[in-house]
Amino acid sequence: MNISGEVIREFETGLDPGNLGNSTIPADVLGYGEISTVFRIGDDKDYAYKRMPLFSSIESAEKYTKDYRTYCKHLSQAGLHLPDDDTTIIASSGRQVVLYIIQKQLPPERFAHKLLHSLIDDEIAQMIKAITRTIKKINSFNDTHRLNLEIALDGQLSNWVLLEDGSLLYVDTSTPLFRVNGEEQLDPELFLKSAPSFLRWIIRWLFLEDVMNRYYDKRQVYIDLVANLYKEQRSDLVPLVIEIINREDSAGMEPLTEKEVKKYYSEDKLIWTLFLAFRRLDRWIKAKILRKRYELILPGKIKR
Ligand SMILES: Nc1ncnc2c1ncn2[C@@H]1O[C@H](COP(=O)(O)OP(=O)(O)OP(=O)(O)O)[C@@H](O)[C@H]1O
Ligand SMILES: [Mg+2]
Repeated sequence: MNISGEVIREFETGLDPGNLGNSTIPADVLGYGEISTVFRIGDDKDYAYKRMPLFSSIESAEKYTKDYRTYCKHLSQAGLHLPDDDTTIIASSGRQVVLYIIQKQLPPERFAHKLLHSLIDDEIAQMIKAITRTIKKINSFNDTHRLNLEIALDGQLSNWVLLEDGSLLYVDTSTPLFRVNGEEQLDPELFLKSAPSFLRWIIRWLFLEDVMNRYYDKRQVYIDLVANLYKEQRSDLVPLVIEIINREDSAGMEPLTEKEVKKYYSEDKLIWTLFLAFRRLDRWIKAKILRKRYELILPGKIKR
């Protein structure tokens, strides 16, 4: 990939996270994550820039980059297709160190959560089948490595891109989740650092206890994927998608049921709604009362 570090540095220096319109280089947000924001910079149609303002030192950003590369390598070895990518670290004095993960920009309308609204049900069924088969590959990969190496992924629909030519790409590589000899390689404290102290308990609860582990559990990954259909206003597809997953991947797994997916969705919805509300409060305190720079970029109202 031929990325100009200068452009990213200029973008980062002129970025106003509280008001993107004030930034010196115009940018659109392609997507919001829990810890990253995905940008299109200027009129660049080639690359998507994932900004992660998480690091207190260049060393920790470098360690993260190394883990990120290892994670991508494992995903590819498992048989997943990833978009071309690159990384850059931007350190400016007095600010958090920022890691940018740059990916080939993919057409927004080809993301699986968008295709739910444009494909016919038969095509959606094919797409779900392809996603299920890919998630199965992660499991086979983990099985061959026993417990020496386990990789995890986030199966959410917004992480998959089905291109016109039928190829399926996985884009959410920015959280390198893998265990070596049973030990998690991703430092959860990294996520805590980026949060204000009054938020830490909820993140600790989310990331340390539940969220991080659940990505290693195939059944949980599927439940999360099906629960997405509620958020995307396609709950009518829940029975079909459950049936496909149960048919395609029954190995070592109790069949999924609609009831548990519903229950999971209502709990998950509460967690993230609360989390976002707290972050907005924190931004407000920092910006309006303490008059400090707030690094993260928050989404507007999300329909759930
Ligand atoms: N390569 C890309 N091209 C175009 N849009 C993208 C690309 N990658 C991500 N996006 C958009 O941004 C959204 C979020 O991206 P992604 O899933 O990679 O990060 P995330 O969910 O924010 O990850 P995390 O929660 O771990 O920070 C995607 O659902 C998609 O809408
Ligand atoms: Mg994602």
